[in-house]
Amino acid sequence: MNYRHAYHAGNVADVVKHLVLVLTILHLKSKDAPFFMLDTHAGIGSYDLTADEASRTGEWRNGIGKVLAAAEPPPGLSAYLAVAGAEPGRYPGSPALARALMRPSDRLALVELHPQDCASLRRLFAGDSRVGVHFGDGYAALKSLLPPPERRGLVLIDPPFEAADEWDRLLAGLRRGVERWRNGTFLVWYPLKAGGADERFRAELAMSDLPPTLGVELITRPRSGPGLAGGALAVVNPPWVLEDQLRRLLPWLVQAMAPETGDWRLEWLVAERPVTRN
Ligand SMILES: C[S@@+](CC[C@H](N)C(=O)[O-])C[C@H]1O[C@@H](n2cnc3c(N)ncnc32)[C@H](O)[C@@H]1O
Repeated sequence: MNYRHAYHAGNVADVVKHLVLVLTILHLKSKDAPFFMLDTHAGIGSYDLTADEASRTGEWRNGIGKVLAAAEPPPGLSAYLAVAGAEPGRYPGSPALARALMRPSDRLALVELHPQDCASLRRLFAGDSRVGVHFGDGYAALKSLLPPPERRGLVLIDPPFEAADEWDRLLAGLRRGVERWRNGTFLVWYPLKAGGADERFRAELAMSDLPPTLGVELITRPRSGPGLAGGALAVVNPPWVLEDQLRRLLPWLVQAMAPETGDWRLEWLVAERPVTRN
């Protein structure tokens, strides 16, 4: 396990992932009933952008750095930007973003397989009874921690894509999770790169029997080049307002982060099935 998110925190992929996460949590909070969130690949929770790792790549400068510096962000970004920009020189990971938005009765389960990163998470969340930190495999947690007693909430699956079989494990894990919690919202992050792996993944999702699934893509550079061309999410059971919200926000984000080479896409990967009657 070589991947450390500290090198990538706040990059363009984090921006789109964390915006969708925040919009989903805000939607859950529109009802009083408590929600549960499972973060299967949690990282260390919060990142120092002045530290050696983040400084070495400087990835955050092309992501959250540009977004925070842009003039007149649309109101739909305000909750995300309030947390992301709260502390100069720091960027919240998915656990810190979730904690900033949770209410006293909401619950968060964090799973992390890297022993040091898990220890960092435990320190960050020590004393917060709403948050459980679990050392182990996030894919196994899709079985052991679902469905939650709250019966409403979300799962973020955000693997590092280091291992050759990650795409297969991701699809199998998602299927298992949805089987156990058919009404949960699942946010699945995946990279856009040359090579066609993401196209194959979307084709497999389209052939699955998943509930309605919205595909979200934010592209910052041509796919023909090396490295990350952008970040994408498959959102199973998305909040009904999400598609409209993103249709307004993604063009602004592209302009802020990659006006020359950027693009965005929203499409239903799995459409709502018509009810059939005999
Ligand atoms: C992309 S980072 C997570 C970033 C975090 N979700 C965020 O948005 O701030 C992926 C994390 O997954 C961890 N990891 C790798 N394999 C794992 C597994 N099978 N189960 C749980 N965590 C894993 C890595 O150590 C790394 O910290």
